[in-house]
Amino acid sequence: MRRKGREDEMKRILALAILATASTGALAQQAAAPTPPPYSPPAAPSPMPSVDVMAAACALCHGPEGKAVDMSMNSLAGQPKNNMVNSLNQFRAGTKPATIMTRIARGLSDAEIDAVASYYAARR
Ligand code: HEC
Repeated sequence: MRRKGREDEMKRILALAILATASTGALAQQAAAPTPPPYSPPAAPSPMPSVDVMAAACALCHGPEGKAVDMSMNSLAGQPKNNMVNSLNQFRAGTKPATIMTRIARGLSDAEIDAVASYYAARR
């Protein structure tokens, strides 16, 4: 039993030592961190991602290929292109009620909305 007590004591000391070095390490790092340069917007807008990359993001919620796996989610596959363009424009403008799509649509340019709507309209 005594031996066990000593082991526990050693473990505590070790844990404290680790904590102490970890926190001083963090402090040192903080002190050494250079001030980040001020934000400057990119000179040119970033190039449009491929439609597959965009669709992969939508697939997280709307299902692979826009075919919803969850009954509570609308399928995008096979929706007429104009409907999707209109919905996404309205989400982006904040005129169509949404929980999440307003924020997502605000990240899409006109060209991206067009491309992603064509992609899903062509799925069956
Ligand atoms: C985080 C989950 C999520 C992601 C990611 C997502 N959506 Fe949605 N989407 C929703 C939800 C939830 C709705 C229902 C409206 C709302 O509450 O925002 C919806 C609705 C829609 C609608 C209207 C569907 C209808 O039949 O009325 C369209 C069109 C749409 N999303 C397109 C997209 C596209 C295109 C992408 C990828 C760029 C995308 N969504 C990514 C969750 C998501």
